[in-house]
Amino acid sequence: MLTYILNWISLPVLLITTAAGLLIVYYLERPKNLAPGPIGFPLVGYLPFLGPQPHVTLFNLAKRYGDILSFTVWGKTFIHLNSYSVILDAYLEHGDMFAGRPQDFSFFWWLTDGLGIVQSEGKIWQEHRRFALKTLRDFGFGKLSLEGRVLEIAKDILNALKQTYETPYDMSNLLANSTTNVICSLMFDKHYNYQDPEFLKARSLTQRFFLLLPGINAFIPRPFARYVPWSLLSKDYRDFAAVKKEFYEMMDEFIKEHQETFNETCLRDYTDVYLDTMRKADSSESFSLERLKAIGLNMFLAGTETTSNTLYWGMKLMTLHREIQDRVYKEIVEVVGKERFPSMVDRYNMPYTEATLMELQRFANISPLSIFHCNPVETTLRGYTIPKRSVILANLWNVHRDPIHWPNPDKFDPLRFLDQDGKVIKREGFIPFSVGKCIYISQKKKSNHQKYQRIE
Ligand SMILES: *[C@@H]1O[C@H](CO)[C@@H](O)[C@H](O)[C@H]1NC(C)=O
Ligand SMILES: *[C@@H]1O[C@H](CO)[C@@H](O)[C@H](O)[C@H]1NC(C)=O
Repeated sequence: MLTYILNWISLPVLLITTAAGLLIVYYLERPKNLAPGPIGFPLVGYLPFLGPQPHVTLFNLAKRYGDILSFTVWGKTFIHLNSYSVILDAYLEHGDMFAGRPQDFSFFWWLTDGLGIVQSEGKIWQEHRRFALKTLRDFGFGKLSLEGRVLEIAKDILNALKQTYETPYDMSNLLANSTTNVICSLMFDKHYNYQDPEFLKARSLTQRFFLLLPGINAFIPRPFARYVPWSLLSKDYRDFAAVKKEFYEMMDEFIKEHQETFNETCLRDYTDVYLDTMRKADSSESFSLERLKAIGLNMFLAGTETTSNTLYWGMKLMTLHREIQDRVYKEIVEVVGKERFPSMVDRYNMPYTEATLMELQRFANISPLSIFHCNPVETTLRGYTIPKRSVILANLWNVHRDPIHWPNPDKFDPLRFLDQDGKVIKREGFIPFSVGKCIYISQKKKSNHQKYQRIE
């Protein structure tokens, strides 16, 4: 009997029927009135086509499907926003609708067990963001000052450059070391010599992390992933798990040391302020040691590579554009001189340098798809239904190269940001830190400096 059926259903027929069945299910499940977009395979969806540079793939698709397009990966709806105006529409006009974060099980979720600032939303996110902003602001000036810490480490850079005796020198390691040291200083009040074994550990963990990262489809949520025995299947996973474990052990040691030497009249760094807040917080609040470790991990991973890459781009562009370098140098010498270090308050007297830094952020585009957002409830945007808990991607890479805002976008030209009187202008379409409620903490820090300046 069985053989009879098997003979009767030939393999091709079986395959075709199954495929057709899956496609029908797929279309029936597709929400009505969704933004148009490409069709992928059943299950994996569009994942196999995203390629190594998803922001470029999606930008090209937007030419066909428009500024809002949708696709699915593992049954999850992704919404891609391609232009400045549609990003403003979503994140400013409808900011409350899109203030969530994808909470699905993904690589980054796994990394911090869902506890990092970047993974939180709602009340917890507000609490910790408020804490982060307040802490960084209170560091303002004085011993704890972020600026003071950065300048100390800038001195190391100068000393290292002096050692090169004007021979050609690749600064990438030096810059990466320095940004790691800034985070060590901010989090744990440690300003390391680069030969220090503790520093070596922090640095090599960050380095290993970023070497492994391209091997992982980092941002794609995988609904079933937590049930897969990855440690048996994937070497990348085992390596990542080792990095994660060592990171947490390092945090443990730092935090233990801080608890032992804690003195409430003399808070030294972010960790001390957090421990102090934890002591005073009531139990309804979400401050915990586990979360402090996750935030430490966030700081190391989000605060080092991004900054050192931007600096590295800066060095590279300055060498490629000597005339711009000369003009920046001239302004620095005029305003700051050669006797002291610059300070954030100098920036208002240095429009050309400021414009150069802005153009650098536009041009380098180090965060092409920004941080992903999510809509906690179903909503609509420009007439399209956005299903509950879609993953929202804003293509900042395209915004910063869109000829509507940037004629000749591939040209590095600080003058875009200056008016005829040489004053810095705010340009439409310049959103290196994205817009809206989830604006990066580093952007906020800058506006605090503006406040200080006005007070003075
Ligand atoms: C960067 O730090 C590593 C690890 O401590 C050290 O071995 C290396 O010499 C440093 N490089 C530079 C250029 O500072
Ligand atoms: C805590 O710091 C204050 C002020 O710096 C100091 O006077 C005090 O002795 C310290 N307390 C302890 C237990 O170290």
